[in-house]
Amino acid sequence: MEEKLSVSKIKSKLNTEFFGRKIHHFSVTDSTNSLAKENPQEPDGTVFIAEKQLKGRGRLSREWLSEQSEGIYMSVLLKPSIPPEQIPKITLVAGLSATVALNKISSENVLIKWPNDCVINGKKICGILTELSCLPSENTVTVGIGINVNNTLFPKDLKSKATSLLLETGRTYSREDIVSLILSEFEKRYIIFLNQGFSALAAEYSRLCVTLDREVEIISPSERYTAYASGIDSEGRLLINLSDGVKAIDSGEVSVRGILGYV
Ligand code: BTN
Repeated sequence: MEEKLSVSKIKSKLNTEFFGRKIHHFSVTDSTNSLAKENPQEPDGTVFIAEKQLKGRGRLSREWLSEQSEGIYMSVLLKPSIPPEQIPKITLVAGLSATVALNKISSENVLIKWPNDCVINGKKICGILTELSCLPSENTVTVGIGINVNNTLFPKDLKSKATSLLLETGRTYSREDIVSLILSEFEKRYIIFLNQGFSALAAEYSRLCVTLDREVEIISPSERYTAYASGIDSEGRLLINLSDGVKAIDSGEVSVRGILGYV
């Protein structure tokens, strides 16, 4: 059995002004995203983190496997004063930050599968679910981050597309180190995003994006087609080449798959 997280260890390594200054740690909960959404009175940057989730949620109504103390299940409560249409971009900022942080500790290269999955060797190790609650006084945004860290077993249906840091690199990791690194990288980029917009992060994002310069399948509720992914624009949209020109697609309800596999 893995050890439980130590909040004081996380805090001792944090390099932030307000992310993670307050951390609520739970042994078990339904979903840390639900906890964050139920506590909008908490300060900007408050973190909710759990050893295990009973109803971990993923994007597009999927389930997020949340085994006891093997992975990281955390949500950051944010209160950005930006127009609501800018809010989905926070997911890209979080994905970029997690990728940068994971590259600092992993011996294997970590890349971003657009819009916000972190992948190693073509398989997913981290996913992000951003949820917005509109209150009369302010908008609160919950950024939920799930990372497969020391997991060794995945159900059959996930094996071909999900993996963990341990499985890919052959060693175990301190979850505290990863949490503090991610919060530090995320706060840095979140402040840049609030002050300068996503365009200030687009070049770094593109460098780490595994979805680019390849043929991908675009899956939306109404259609499914293949196209060549040629870039990321200053708004974080994926640029795809079609016979009638270049189209920019928003992350919203769209899934992108590789032609041969998950990436
Ligand atoms: C995805 O589908 O890729 C997003 C997965 C997000 C999972 C995290 S784990 C912490 C937080 N709580 C949840 O219920 N979901 C997010």
